[in-house]
Amino acid sequence: MVKIIKFREKYLKNIIELFLEGNVIAFPTETVYGLGAIATNKEAIDNIYRIKNRPTNNPLIAHFSDLTLIEKDTILNENAIKLADVFWPGPLTIILRKSLQCRISNNALSGLDTIAVRIPSHNIALSILNELKLPIVAPSANPSSYLSPCNAQHVKKSLGKKIKYIIDGGSTIIGLESTILDLTSDKPALLRYGSITQEQIEKVIGKIEVKEKEHKIIAPGMLDKHYSPICPLRIGYDNPRNNEGLLAFGNDVPSESFAVVKNISEKGDLYEAARNFFSALHELEDYNVSSIATMLVPNVGIGKAINDKLKRASYL
Ligand code: TXA
Ligand code: MG
Repeated sequence: MVKIIKFREKYLKNIIELFLEGNVIAFPTETVYGLGAIATNKEAIDNIYRIKNRPTNNPLIAHFSDLTLIEKDTILNENAIKLADVFWPGPLTIILRKSLQCRISNNALSGLDTIAVRIPSHNIALSILNELKLPIVAPSANPSSYLSPCNAQHVKKSLGKKIKYIIDGGSTIIGLESTILDLTSDKPALLRYGSITQEQIEKVIGKIEVKEKEHKIIAPGMLDKHYSPICPLRIGYDNPRNNEGLLAFGNDVPSESFAVVKNISEKGDLYEAARNFFSALHELEDYNVSSIATMLVPNVGIGKAINDKLKRASYL
């Protein structure tokens, strides 16, 4: 039986021990819940891949408490330092070359000589990382290609039979995975949309490119099917189907009859929509609808990340 640990400062020492013993533990970050293991523990990392049913060619993100630790495992460049100054701790993941003395286990990096790093801003994640003084590698705490988790119950629903511990820190504040930026070549490239936008990044380091689908797949968040509920999902909402749920946005919601409607932001606020996005899809999935119809959101700022996830979830 999975144990859900409601986080308290006094449990911190025990939580650190559980990590040091090699457990794989779900924990909250500001984006989504992660499935974490100490980044130097090969067996624990193998277990993450098994538990998630994740292809071993899909590398993990390493989470750090501060830049001085990142500096040991990576080769920091000027752009990374500028971005770190503005966005860390926070929901930006940066791909860097790994350093010669990098301690992160190779199986977390799928044998690559690059490494995805970030400093999360969630107080529980940061407390653990500060106390541990070692990086934690963590993908999102969901089975590969299914809905991401934004609270402890989401993790329990899909992985509760496969893991021993979930640290419960309530609902995540952002609700979408971190933005991923590749800084390993002279041309910075956005690999995954998130709450930190292209425009925000460009204000700090100048023009960046966005890697579109037809490019070689670098981050499997760029694979076609991803972030999917267990039932089919379609973009659009004409002609409601039998027992169909609707993921809605804004106050101009179609009046056709759906089995259930979840509105991610009636007032049309994209940040609220991001926060409610995966939870609403989890709820629709739990409602046992046969399919989900969806409204797209305005394709600006964080809205790009929401629409991108909807498109990937709708791939069948
Ligand atoms: O917000 C987040 O980023 C969450 C929380 C837990 O931090 N984590 C997360 O991890 O979304 P995951 O594994 O679901 O997504 C990580 C993405 C994958 O698409 C992976 O392919 C990509 O990062 N990635 C990791 N290392 C990479 C590398 N060296 N080069 C290119 N892509 C990489
Ligand atoms: Mg994921």
